[in-house]
Formats: sequence, C-alpha cells, structure tokens
Amino acid sequence: MTMLSGSPWLLAYRSMLKPNQPMKVSLQGNDYVLWQDSTGEISCLSNACPHMGAMLSEGWCQQRKDKSSVVICPFHALEFDSSGCTILPGSNKSTKSLIQPLELIVQGDFIWSYGGHEAKIPIPTIMNEIAAEYEFIGFTKNRSIKTDLLTLLLNMHDYNHQNGTHRELFEIEEVQLKQFIDNGLHSHAYVDQPRKKPTIRDILKNPGLLAMPKVLQAHLENFFPCMAVMHGESPLLSLKECHFYIPESPNSSRVFILMFMKAHTPIAHFIKRNLLQLVELVVEQDADILGKIYANTPQHIKLNNEVGMDWVRRNFETFPLVVEPNLSR
Ligand code: FES
Ligand SMILES: [Fe+2]
Repeated sequence: MTMLSGSPWLLAYRSMLKPNQPMKVSLQGNDYVLWQDSTGEISCLSNACPHMGAMLSEGWCQQRKDKSSVVICPFHALEFDSSGCTILPGSNKSTKSLIQPLELIVQGDFIWSYGGHEAKIPIPTIMNEIAAEYEFIGFTKNRSIKTDLLTLLLNMHDYNHQNGTHRELFEIEEVQLKQFIDNGLHSHAYVDQPRKKPTIRDILKNPGLLAMPKVLQAHLENFFPCMAVMHGESPLLSLKECHFYIPESPNSSRVFILMFMKAHTPIAHFIKRNLLQLVELVVEQDADILGKIYANTPQHIKLNNEVGMDWVRRNFETFPLVVEPNLSR
C-alpha cells in the first residue's frame, strides 16, 4: 500500500508529449511508453517489448496512412499499435494484442491514470476548471527523486522547510499558519510568511527580491495524494501553481509543476518565464534535500505548523478510507 493504489495520477500534460515521440513513464513499479500521434490520440503500453524485452520508449514512432502512429522497438524494429498488436515479418495480418495497454483517462490536456488499479477516489475536477479560465504558462521539467511517496508528500506539505530548504530564495523570517481546513482527503492551508528585509548585497545578488512582497501569503489547496495547487494573487496576476506527485516505484517518486495565470496587466506576460524558472529552482531545492534525508528516522521533535504533515500521515495510513476530519484549526 505504500504507493496508494486506487488514486488517480497525472502522468503528463499534453504538451509534454511531442507528437510521435515516445516518452517513458514509471508508475507504481511498472514502466510504460506513452506517445501522442499527430491527431492528438494518446497511447500507453507496457514498456518491455514482448520479443526480447527492449525498452519501447527508446525506440521511435511512425505515422500510418490513417494518421495514427505506432511505436517501433529499437532492437529489431517490430512496430506496435496502441492496442499492442504487431505485424510479424512475412505475415500481412496483425497479431492479437501482445502488450498490455495502460488505461488512460484523458480530460482535455490532462492525461490521468489509475495505473490499472480499481479507482478508489475520483479525479479532482479542479484542473479542468483552471484550464477553462486560465492561460497555460508552462511546465517544469519532470524531476524523478530517489525517495518514497510518503517522504515526498511530507516534504510537500511541510510549511516550515522554507527556512531551510528554500532559504536563499525567499529569506523567510517566520511561518504563520493562519488556518488549516481539513476536509478529509482535501484540505486548505493559509500561510503567511514575513520575509527578512534584504540587504543591498542581497538585492545586488538577486534583484528579483525587490519584486517580492514583504509577507508572502500562500493559499495551498491539497488533494491527497496526487496534487496540490498554490493559489497566488498579486496586483500583476492571479497564479495557479499546480504540483503533481507520482509514485514511480517504492523508492522513487516524480514531481512536476504546471503553471497557469490570469494577467491583470500586460507586465504579467513579461515575467511569466521568470516565474517558471523560479518554481523550477524550488523543485530542484526540494529534490536536493530529499536526497539528503535518512528516511524512516523516528521523529523526536515536533515543530509548530506541522498540521499539513499530520494530514498526510493520517490519510496515508487510512487510504482510501476517509476518516472524520479532525485537524482543522
Ligand atoms: S526486442 Fe523488440 S523487436 Fe526484438
Ligand atoms: Fe519545498
């Protein structure tokens, strides 16, 4: 149960898949090849070629006359269609399916999957709502981290690590958790983070500090276990920073972020690249610290503001059961 089967996971956002280019995705201990043809049809098969086990994701795609495309094995060039059928040399008819396709749920540009497990909780609808109203800015690159899902989720719902992990970026003086609303597998956290007054030297080093407010206010909306959205408001723009978590295997997890915005002034369009670079750095810093933790160390110290982590631990233990919410404060 350490990889929480029954949850949906966002495998990719459509534009992460270049047409006719296979991409490898790992989910709950299995590897898959994912590709999109030029009509936008998305396919996903187990990644091991049924001939001699080569990784199909290392191969290439080829378009057929009907515009659908097949993935071609890099070893002996057998080609497989989206149902895992191939045409053997010397034969001119298709075999039965030789590779198990992975069931996907494609909602607009969002490519979800339950990893072939029975669905125990629904797909959050918030991404469809955001996509309908906001402009897509971009995605951070996929970051695969050598850590288990629980350790990753604890980090992502830890409101104190700004002071350590992200110190150089934000120079936060203290963390004030204003409110935590526990709705079972869904929660909201409202956090105020007053920042140190930057010195002239700091500003020279990182002029971006000038653009940051004195108190960073964050509203985090959490959807256990697969995602969290940071709702950001500023006079320039409204931001939706959407974080996705994927258990690749018991000891490896993937993170990526999709960014959406609504511009309130044209300036917003000039800074959207910088915003993306900033979150890219945030992900790097998280990945870095997660590589430097002894997992499963008994916790003998408890800090304030750890309610997000309590929420993760409780839901992890009881998943997919929703326990009576009791952590609101
Ligand atoms: S291993 Fe794939 S075609 Fe031979
Ligand atoms: Fe972080």
